[in-house]
Amino acid sequence: MARLVVVSNRVALPDSTTRAGGLAIALKAALRPQNGVWFGWSGKVSSSTELKTVEHDNITYVTADLARSDYQEFYNGFANRVLWPILHYRLDLVEFTRRDFGGYTRVNEYFASQLDTVLRPDDIIWVHDYHFIPLAKALRDRGHRNRIGFFLHIPFPPPEILTALPSHDRLVPALCHYDLVGFQTDIDAGNFSRYLALERGLPWASGNSFQFYDRVVEFGAFPIGVEAERFNKVARRAVHTKFVKDVVDSLSGREMIIGVDRLDYSKGLPLRMDAFEHFLQLYPDWRSKCTYLQITPRSRTEIPEYEEIGEQVAARAGRINGAYGEANWTPLRYVNRAHSHTALAGLYRNARAALVTPLRDGMNLVAKEYVAAQDADNPGVLILSRFAGAAREMKAALLVNPYDTEGVASAINQALSMPLAERRQRHDELYKGLVEHDIARWAEQFLSALRRPPQTVDWPSKFRVV
Ligand code: G6P
Repeated sequence: MARLVVVSNRVALPDSTTRAGGLAIALKAALRPQNGVWFGWSGKVSSSTELKTVEHDNITYVTADLARSDYQEFYNGFANRVLWPILHYRLDLVEFTRRDFGGYTRVNEYFASQLDTVLRPDDIIWVHDYHFIPLAKALRDRGHRNRIGFFLHIPFPPPEILTALPSHDRLVPALCHYDLVGFQTDIDAGNFSRYLALERGLPWASGNSFQFYDRVVEFGAFPIGVEAERFNKVARRAVHTKFVKDVVDSLSGREMIIGVDRLDYSKGLPLRMDAFEHFLQLYPDWRSKCTYLQITPRSRTEIPEYEEIGEQVAARAGRINGAYGEANWTPLRYVNRAHSHTALAGLYRNARAALVTPLRDGMNLVAKEYVAAQDADNPGVLILSRFAGAAREMKAALLVNPYDTEGVASAINQALSMPLAERRQRHDELYKGLVEHDIARWAEQFLSALRRPPQTVDWPSKFRVV
């Protein structure tokens, strides 16, 4: 069978001590049974252009360093100060410069030239996320005719937002060089097709595809999942670890509410804390009877917007504890330290409620892992933002609008007061969905669509993307 070559900026190297984000964790799970190659950034900044190869657990990891200027312009610049905010609907935070766009294009060319040395003609290539939108074009320009798929882990906004990006007309059509473009939800996929229709005048070749020269490009929603059953087992074991037991003991019998997010403005942390404060105000009976643990590893620390959000969140946490805390009770524990996947599994299983309230999120795997970790006999309740991709599937969660902080406060009260029968019924429905649509199925569905023989159409056509 043809090799699978996965490309993503962040690679969860086997010896890595840094905590991987949702993408890296998901890809590791998807690649494990595949015997593939995982190509991406080493996480190091250096002038070396040598590739590093490591074999581990059926996966060959091939990584490249980034030069200082590439790291600045590609990663800290265009990827994370332009694409990340705009794709999360945050036009107000976009800092576009032509220099950074040049750096982004240059790094995509560089990765394509490095991949050149690794690729075989029959490899199936699966590119991930917003860092590598133009990679297929760069590979096609080098003569690669492989099947190449792209999956966007984060949201794809409506064309009315995307067209504010100065380079959108060069960037977005580059997606047409892929054979298959996957999104987290039908909303994202719909926004993409609307962009192509409005900006490029493209008709559909069929329901979910369009014509690009002599090829048909397919697109669609492939909602990502988690390794639900495996994670449940990890959680069952993790509750017996010293770390998890110590945390539980330290609660002195209080209910725990948990939040786990990278420190990122898309996660809605200041509003979430405001909601928790409202909850303490509006439902005083819960004071001293519950503790909210918010685990928030720092992220992209060289970018000013991330520093600002860090200050805002820390100030709120301090204010809430000052106003409501008592000598023997801290309402909110705010922790920046990253925790292992196992430790999180154990904490999730002990938390009566989880707060997953992003302002916008591609999917949000914390929501899925929280549910996967629960004890089916005595499960906790997921409070989930309607603006997370996960909300499209997880209808049995308590769905909230994160901007309605009083509404979120009331959902916290509802979660903590929910009778066991209702908790079980909601959990049962959610868990079944997770098992049915787990990470293996996600990879299988995307890859079987990508492996399907390409359709060809007559060319030239009056409908072309140029
Ligand atoms: C999100 C993105 C990933 C990214 C991760 C961590 O999950 O979709 O592409 O890897 O955040 O962010 P970082 O900038 O540290 O890689």
